[in-house]
Amino acid sequence: MSGDDCADTADKEHKKEQQKKKKKKKSKRDKTGFKYEEVDPIAKVNALPEEKIQEVRKAIRLFLMSQGPARTLEEAGRRSYLFWDTQPVPKIGETVTSHCCVVPDPSSVREEPLSLPPGFAWDSLDLEHPDSLKELHVLLSENYEEDDDGGFRLAYGPQFLLWALRPPGWLPQWHCGVRVDSSRKLVGFIGAVPVDVRVYDTQKKMAEVKLLCVHKKLRKKRLAPVLIREITRRAHLEGVFQGVYAAGVVLPKPVATCRFWHRYLNPRKLIEVKFSHLNKNMTVQRALKLYRLPETPKTPGLRPMTREDVPAVHLLLRHYLEQFQLVPVLSAEEVEHWLLPREDIISTYVVESAGGSVTDFVSFVTLPSSILNHPVHRSIKAAYSFYTVHTRTSLEDLVEDALILAKAEHFDVFSALDLMENKTFLENRKFVAGDDHLHYYLYNWKCPSLRSEKVSGFLLKIA
Ligand SMILES: CC(C)(COP(=O)(O)OP(=O)(O)OC[C@H]1O[C@@H](n2cnc3c(N)ncnc32)[C@H](O)[C@@H]1OP(=O)(O)O)[C@@H](O)C(=O)NCCC(=O)NCCS
Repeated sequence: MSGDDCADTADKEHKKEQQKKKKKKKSKRDKTGFKYEEVDPIAKVNALPEEKIQEVRKAIRLFLMSQGPARTLEEAGRRSYLFWDTQPVPKIGETVTSHCCVVPDPSSVREEPLSLPPGFAWDSLDLEHPDSLKELHVLLSENYEEDDDGGFRLAYGPQFLLWALRPPGWLPQWHCGVRVDSSRKLVGFIGAVPVDVRVYDTQKKMAEVKLLCVHKKLRKKRLAPVLIREITRRAHLEGVFQGVYAAGVVLPKPVATCRFWHRYLNPRKLIEVKFSHLNKNMTVQRALKLYRLPETPKTPGLRPMTREDVPAVHLLLRHYLEQFQLVPVLSAEEVEHWLLPREDIISTYVVESAGGSVTDFVSFVTLPSSILNHPVHRSIKAAYSFYTVHTRTSLEDLVEDALILAKAEHFDVFSALDLMENKTFLENRKFVAGDDHLHYYLYNWKCPSLRSEKVSGFLLKIA
């Protein structure tokens, strides 16, 4: 009997056990004397055959789509945007051919903050203060972005948030919180950091807006537009009139759309938590074999980046990014901030040639997610491909080494968008196309849409 047959038999045994358990369900009576079965709804769903689970997931997804924001341009074309239609952004159906701002720079900027509903107050978070940092961490870990099926929620640690929100040039007033007046509880946040961006041939100082979050109990009350208007006002006060941001939802109007791809590193766990699913003809054993990786990287001279490598990495990155059309223009200080390795945040490995020069590098960010409602597993550790620059080593080899290193660091999955040159290695390196997309947006800047290959990675999807 092959390993696969063993797995099939074990699967059948497991299903029989589940069915026996189902028959032994306990009955209880409620206060009215009504007899009902005590069933754990999650266990009940988990016991369904795989096809049924898929159907349930699809139905939930369709239901959420009909309730929530648009996920495709087609859906977006069918709805109206009460807020975004008032903003200096292209309309969903608009074809843009020019390169210019949508509205001219304002001659004066309102001094007072936007009005909040009664009972709420603005508060710029002092992240230096551990209590404020903890509050932001708690707000995001309980309320930030979940996948469509509500199974996973992005979970950034406090140090990660400091890294994301305090690159060189950061401004405390761009860490914009909303508190309940009476309790001082933090219930909303929008952050931004300054970044020089080149779009086609134009370079502009922009506000890179990130980590927009409203407490679950305050959703659908039009608080998000107030946060967005307020961060815009604060950017205007600094003389910054353009913004860049990314979202999983379709808003007016994406300048580019990228798709997420995932390379499984720990397939057994990913299947158990339903991050990935076994296709027909695939068993756990086959998946383990398919996604097996060598123990050690193969590129000679590959080692973690150090502070001394910053000038070389900066130069490599600057040249490499010239070929793309939506690009952050980073200083050496910013390269040090974003790329120098920090535990559980950013991993960067450089290739040092025999002559001692740095010829290539590969980097990935740590993006943990909480797993909601799983009896055993609590979190998924995802590596998110950041910048990979190749001059002597092939891109595919660098990525293969990054996968090996990530696996050794106990990451469960390695994710990448199909931007830059990533399409050239995704399939060969056994990445699987995900359901999610990331849409890139520019605020108060119009330009023709870009193909994903022309976009370079930003830190937006911690952004
Ligand atoms: C995103 C979030 C703040 C929106 O809040 P909400 O209570 O659902 O929406 P509100 O009633 O306050 O505002 C609705 C407006 O915000 C817009 N909006 C929704 N999500 C948005 C986003 N991610 N970015 C910008 N605008 C968004 C809506 O399109 C709508 O504007 P419209 O009338 O022009 O269509 C909230 O859902 C949230 O905190 N989600 C979890 C975190 C998250 O996903 N953040 C975004 C990361 S990109």
